[in-house]
Amino acid sequence: MSQHPETKAIRLQTEQTDQKEHATPLFLTSSFTYDSAEEMGAAFADDTLDINIYSRFSNPTVDEFINKVAALEGAEDGVATGTGMAAIFSTFMTFLNQGDHIISASAVFGSTHTILTKYLPKWGISYSYFDMNKPESIEKLIKPNTKLLYVETPSNPGLDIIDIESVASLCKKHNILFVVDNCFATPAVQQPLQYGADLVLHSATKFIDGQGRVLGGIVVGKKELIKQLYLFIRNTGPSMSPFNAWVLSKSLETLFIRMEKHAANALYLAKTLQEHKKLSWVKYPFLPDHPQFEIAKKQMTNGGGILTFEIKGGVEGGRNFLNALKMLSMTNNLGDSRSIASHPASTTHSKLTEEERAAVGITPGLIRISVGLEHPEDILNDILQALEKS
Ligand SMILES: Cc1ncc(COP(=O)(O)O)c(C=O)c1O
Repeated sequence: MSQHPETKAIRLQTEQTDQKEHATPLFLTSSFTYDSAEEMGAAFADDTLDINIYSRFSNPTVDEFINKVAALEGAEDGVATGTGMAAIFSTFMTFLNQGDHIISASAVFGSTHTILTKYLPKWGISYSYFDMNKPESIEKLIKPNTKLLYVETPSNPGLDIIDIESVASLCKKHNILFVVDNCFATPAVQQPLQYGADLVLHSATKFIDGQGRVLGGIVVGKKELIKQLYLFIRNTGPSMSPFNAWVLSKSLETLFIRMEKHAANALYLAKTLQEHKKLSWVKYPFLPDHPQFEIAKKQMTNGGGILTFEIKGGVEGGRNFLNALKMLSMTNNLGDSRSIASHPASTTHSKLTEEERAAVGITPGLIRISVGLEHPEDILNDILQALEKS
């Protein structure tokens, strides 16, 4: 009997042990044992065997987390990593060779930008950036050695959105691997594989955890691609800890209901703040004046839990806003049940020049709100009183 994704997120679970536990068990073990020397020999002779050897390679609790995310994303298989960055870096290292070229949206998470611009060139891998608001510019960037195209949609922190289906068909035409970071939407809101992406990855640290406790990453897609990634991860070691997998797998049970509430709260705030006199604009994927509203409606079931706005007072105004907050947390994480405010220009991105910030969509007074699960009026009231002081 086929089940809805909401049910799979709750019911897909490691087979019950003899202890008859109800909640999923945690296999907090580094290695696994064998019944004979022959069995152990066979396990090492063939690295495609479906057998647990060592938790850097595989672990039942980690497998449960992978199976759930793969089911929600509509993927054949997946592989989990210790962090989102490990998922991104492992993907690049597995599928790119010396002399290859990668095309990426310029609006990507800061550490992804660092990998693309600082580390990949060290190994002879070049990159080209395109503007998420000008997808028509992508085709001109394609070279004979272009192997991979990378986007975040919605992007962090600019909330730019790209038509996954149209980028996927361009990638198919040119035989390019299309990788989507689906961290902001989560599989509860958007499934990029359905629209033709080859691989989907996540920082599970964000909405998948949902309570700011553990770090994690995951990549899902076709079996043949995941097998290559798995071998890279198994041998180089950025594997997910079983404990983190247990936390994340339990979190998936509430992912759909949380994302609905994050999005409802975010839409309420976005609509209410839209006309505020201290703001030059408010951006949220499901606001009709979002530049890619129609695309967002097509590929996302709701607008997600992140909104941004621009304080008219610039960098100083943004700093004053953060300092005036009474309830919202001042931290760089996102995707938590607790609402979080960040001001990239005076904090995470303060080392960049204004031009460099502008190139990745960070304007001087940009505030990113990761909208939590508190009562929306309480979140709004804190933002309103802080805006008065900004
Ligand atoms: C869109 C996106 N991708 C990747 C990452 C990196 O994830 P992690 O911090 O789990 O390594 C982040 C972290 O903020 C992110 O926002």
